Amino acid sequence: MFVTLTEYAVSSWRGSEAYDGLEAVVAGIAEGAKQIQAKVRAAVLANAVGATGETNVQGEVVQILDTFSSETLVKTLTQCGRVAAIGSEEIEETVIVGDSPAHRYLVQMDPLDGSSNIDVAVSVGSILGIWKREAHEQVAESTLLKKGKDQVAAVYTVYGSCTVMVVATHEGVQGFTLDPADGIFRRTNPDIRIPQNNSCYSTNEGNFKGMERGTQKAVEELRNTYSLRYAGSLVADFHRNLLKGGIFLYPGTVKSPEGKLRLMYEANPLAFIVEQAGGAASSGKERILDIQPQKLHQRTSLIIGNKDVVERTVAVMNKA
Ligand code: AHG
Ligand code: MN
Ligand code: MN
Repeated sequence: MFVTLTEYAVSSWRGSEAYDGLEAVVAGIAEGAKQIQAKVRAAVLANAVGATGETNVQGEVVQILDTFSSETLVKTLTQCGRVAAIGSEEIEETVIVGDSPAHRYLVQMDPLDGSSNIDVAVSVGSILGIWKREAHEQVAESTLLKKGKDQVAAVYTVYGSCTVMVVATHEGVQGFTLDPADGIFRRTNPDIRIPQNNSCYSTNEGNFKGMERGTQKAVEELRNTYSLRYAGSLVADFHRNLLKGGIFLYPGTVKSPEGKLRLMYEANPLAFIVEQAGGAASSGKERILDIQPQKLHQRTSLIIGNKDVVERTVAVMNKA
């Protein structure tokens, strides 16, 4: 008998000081994810794939579904009545929602991760980090620039062979699957822990030439030890590695030392989740969750997965 997401959220968080109202925020994310997954699955038929012709603050081509996903989650997070402000990969400025005493949460999100994969039916997903707004804090962009370790929860979804939603708090990591029969998320993976045995490594080997020598040595060691599994969607690669054991790395290169992935809404939420599951996440220089953000859309190198393999990989990267 599977516990539903609502049953889990209400029994775990309702009435608790630390998580008061979190069940409404997570319900808003779940509602948004249901609408996004329906749209993703029908996109090709509805002529909703491809680019909008715009570029986002990252200078990247915006896909139609990027915009749809961002607008959908802004809508459902606003409607939940508990979110004060939202940062989105697809929106340059911070979305200010409300500053009443009920608006106690701050959300940073990648509304659709892996969007270059949409028209070839490879899994995509959404990634969200959730922080608390202290009562005295004004609702502004500066309030969103909190360290990853200050998150109270983090969520990602995968729109793949099934629709998965993984929710982490300081009490652990829970995996839910959307039941297509009734549209309810049911807990299929309770108390997720990353397996000790590392089974694969995930990186874009096409970037090898441009990597720093130390990083190349680390990748060579991984290449000689594990199988390569790389979907090109961070959230799909991360989910496989979380359940089966593995390491994902998108390191900086000589040309872009800061790497490609974004700190606030890709690295931070997944780093929170992997640490709650017994893993580790590093920028190659420091623990991801310790990084003091300077800008909403700043990038970071990301090495994330089994703790011992992440530590070994970072050590080799930094060996002179
Ligand atoms: P997004 O679609 O949100 O821009 O993220 C894409 C990211 C991430 O999902 C993936 O790991 C990475 O881009 C793949 O980059 P490469 O194609 O350079 O390997
Ligand atoms: Mn992304
Ligand atoms: Mn994205």
